[in-house]
Order: sequence, then C-alpha cells, then structure tokens
Amino acid sequence: MADANIFPALIAHCKEYGYIFQSSEIYDGLSAVYDYGQNGAQLKKNIRDYWWKSMTQMHENIVGIDAAIFMHPTTWKASGHIDSFSDPMIDNKDSNKRYRVDHLIENYSDELRAMSREEEAEALIASMERLISGDDFEGLKNLIDSNKIKCSVSKTCNWTEIRQFNLMFSTEMGSVAEEANTIYLRPETAQGIFVNFLNVQKTGRMKIPFGIAQTGKAFRNEIVARQFIFRMREFEQMEMQFFVRPGTQMEWYNFWKAERLKWHQSIGIPAQKLKFHDHVKLAHYADAAVDIEFDFPFGWKELEGIHSRTDYDLSRHQEFSKKKLQYFDNDLKEDGKPYGNYIPYVVETSVGLDRLVLTILSNAYEEQKWNKEDGTEDSRVVLKIPAKLAPTKLAILPLLKKDGLPEIARQLMNDCKSSFQCFYEEKDAIGKRYRRMDAIGTPFCITIDHQTKEDSMVTLRDRDTMTQERIALSNVKEIIKGKIEQ
Ligand code: GAP
Repeated sequence: MADANIFPALIAHCKEYGYIFQSSEIYDGLSAVYDYGQNGAQLKKNIRDYWWKSMTQMHENIVGIDAAIFMHPTTWKASGHIDSFSDPMIDNKDSNKRYRVDHLIENYSDELRAMSREEEAEALIASMERLISGDDFEGLKNLIDSNKIKCSVSKTCNWTEIRQFNLMFSTEMGSVAEEANTIYLRPETAQGIFVNFLNVQKTGRMKIPFGIAQTGKAFRNEIVARQFIFRMREFEQMEMQFFVRPGTQMEWYNFWKAERLKWHQSIGIPAQKLKFHDHVKLAHYADAAVDIEFDFPFGWKELEGIHSRTDYDLSRHQEFSKKKLQYFDNDLKEDGKPYGNYIPYVVETSVGLDRLVLTILSNAYEEQKWNKEDGTEDSRVVLKIPAKLAPTKLAILPLLKKDGLPEIARQLMNDCKSSFQCFYEEKDAIGKRYRRMDAIGTPFCITIDHQTKEDSMVTLRDRDTMTQERIALSNVKEIIKGKIEQ
C-alpha cells in the first residue's frame, strides 16, 4: 500500500544523506531538474551497470551502443515526434497555470478517493481513458466542466479549451538562428538505436532476433513536472530494441514482458509491488504496449514501458533517409532456398533510470522504532538497499582512534577497496556510526577492537538484522564479496 506520508520524509532523507539535490539549489532551484550527490550517483551507476550487464553480458544476442544526444533533425520528423509528441493541456484563465489534462483529472480522482468516493473516482478515470483514446478533447473538456474540477492555485473552474503542446526541447546548431539549424534534445534514446540498426547489424554480424541496448539522457519539456525524480525534464533512460521477424513480434513481446518483470524482482522489488498495466491508447508506433507499474509512495505509476513498435521506426527512417534499412534473412527458407529481405519488427523495453532509483529508495526506506531491554525506546531510519546496488558496500570502523586500531583498519581498507566500494570512519561513538551507515544504506560494517589485536577477529554487523558476528580479519574480503553477489 502506498504511504504518502513517507514521501516528504524520503525526499528530505535523500538530501540529508547526499543522494539527490535540487539542481542549482543556491539559485532557488530549477523546476523538475535534479542533481545526484555522492551516494545517489553511485547508486544510479550501480543500477545502470546491473541493467547493462543483464542486457549485454547475459544475452549473447544483445549488444550495447552509446549514440549522441544530438541527432539530425529529420530523425524527429521521421519518428513522428515533431508531429505527434505532444500532450493535451489546459490553462486556468485566472491563475495562468497550465495542466496536463490527464494529470488534472487524475488528481481530482485522488481527491475523490481520499473522500472514500472510490466508485466515482473509478468511473471518472474510465471516462477519461475512453476520451483520451479517442482524442476527444471536447469530451475531456466537458468531463472537467461537469465535475467542476478546480485549479489548485486560483480555485476556479475558468478553463481554456484543450490544446496540444509538443514536449521536445529545441536549440540551434551553429551560429545562425535559421529554422534549418534547429535541432532537438532527444526525447528518447531509442532513435539513436534505430538509425544505427544497420551499422551494428553489419559490423557485429548480428542475426535476427537480436537486440541493441543503450543508456543515456533524454529531455522532455514536461509541463506538469512533479513528484520529485518521478517526472523530470532531464532524465536518463535504459532502452533496448529487439529486432525480430515480422509476425513473431507478439511472441517476443510476451517474452520481454516476463523477462523484465523477473528482472525487477531480481533487484529486490517485491512481486506484490509490481503489476502490468496495458495501454488503452497506443502510441503512434505501437501495436501493443504495457507498463510495468510500481506501488510508489504516491500510488501505482509507470516504471517501465514494453512496446511492440512494429516496423514503424525503421520504415520511416528508410523513407526519410532514402537508405535501405533491411535485413537479409538467410535462415528464412522457402522450398529449401533462402529468401527474405525485410524490415524487422521491433519489441522495445524502456525503463527510466531515475524512476528506478526512486523505486529502489522508496522500497528501501524504513523508519523503525523498538523497545530496548532496559525499557527505553530506540529508533533508526534505514535504507535497505540490496547489497549489490548499495553505493557503499562496507564501512570499516576502528572502535577507537588509537592503540593501533586505525592501522589495522587502514590495512583492511587497502585490501578491500579495489574489490568493492568501502568507507572508512573513526569519529564518534560506534552506535552513532552504525546509525549513519544504516541511513546511507551501507549493508555491512566491520569493527576493529582491542580483541582484534589478540585474535585477528573482527565484528561483522549486518544492516538489516543489526546482528553481529565475529569473523576472521583475513576472511573479510571474501565474505563481503560473497554477500554482494548473492
Ligand atoms: N522509447 C519509448 C519511450 O520513451 P516512454 O513510456 O515515454 O517510452 C519510457 O518512456 C520510460 O522512461 C518510462 O517508463 C519512464 O520510466 C521514463 N520516463 C519517461 N518520461 C520521464 C520523465 N519525464 N522523467 C523521468 N522518467 C521518465
């Protein structure tokens, strides 16, 4: 169950512990743009690396590329983004505040739910989805008017008509501001894969079915950017386009649906917090599409999209570039003879890296309270990030700053730091240091005490259970390595 109260606490925690900061904070911030601090950047990198490995190393028929953010402007004409990458918006005439129509209606349905008017909320969303799928703007406007949906700023229902707004950012390349020089910041990484389809297929001698994976920044001028790093104007995607024979796309679509759901569970997201949501309105390029949704603190929302994109993108790039983007399928035989020059169909998996960071953090964040043996209360905030993704794996903590303990700890740090991310700290009481590591999400702590000097044993403390055990100093590296790989 979503817990909206946790969300502000999680945002504050992310700032306090070096995970995520508002961009340009000293200038009062830039709306819907965020910077990752020392822990956030490492967490993000660990998730990206894990995805990259799962895609490219664990699948023999998937390779990775890194295409540029800037692309030839015709790319976006061909892909349909110039003509159709827009959202229906409505403005309130009194406050001049602009809303995405679906967000305005969804917010109102949340208000109905908060008043226990669940059935009305569901009926409202069903009507909205029907009208959106039919591009019925008049019907949507009537829905807003008849429900007397108000602007959150002016509190009035004085709305404009609904209009479409393109979400792409544009800039100029070169010095002359002519239309011909207008280029776009890519709104998805996918197109960098499509335009390189033949380069990769030929140089990699790839045989269908095969995939091309890529991670990188994407930009969208989201009008209503909200919910922290859930909806940003600059964000990162991890996308994979899987090229298949025409006619086999539904088989592969179902394969990737199952595969991606399993992947999310492999990074510790519980099955009950994930679900599929089929698209009602298909994007201009898709013949089937589903979202994997996660139960965020503010409700069920899209985490990843899986789309059967048909041959739309490659066909359009072939048409606009006038270059053949076809595959000769040697394995496709008719009457024993090879035939088959065709434009492959594509199944895409597309997940937002920032949304995954938010998913991991929302799932990991816990405020705990308990009674100690002496009857007093104790508490902690802990980030139960899976060890394989945690920014720091091991904290090395000499009990005291003297008596030769820091020297032993430093030696251990030197032994371990080339294998995994370690953190050394000798200040403050040990309990306080443990709490700080809990808050950062460090799964393991090693404490070196006076006994270590006698028996070469150290204390291994587990973040999640808070249990402690004595292990041999010489085994620390291998034990921690084993635990991270689990
Ligand atoms: N290439 C297909 C594509 O871009 P999408 O559903 O628009 O499909 C894919 O985006 C994923 O990218 C989403 O599931 C989400 O995780 C992420 N995403 C999209 N817009 C975002 C935004 N404004 N901020 C953060 N993540 C976003």
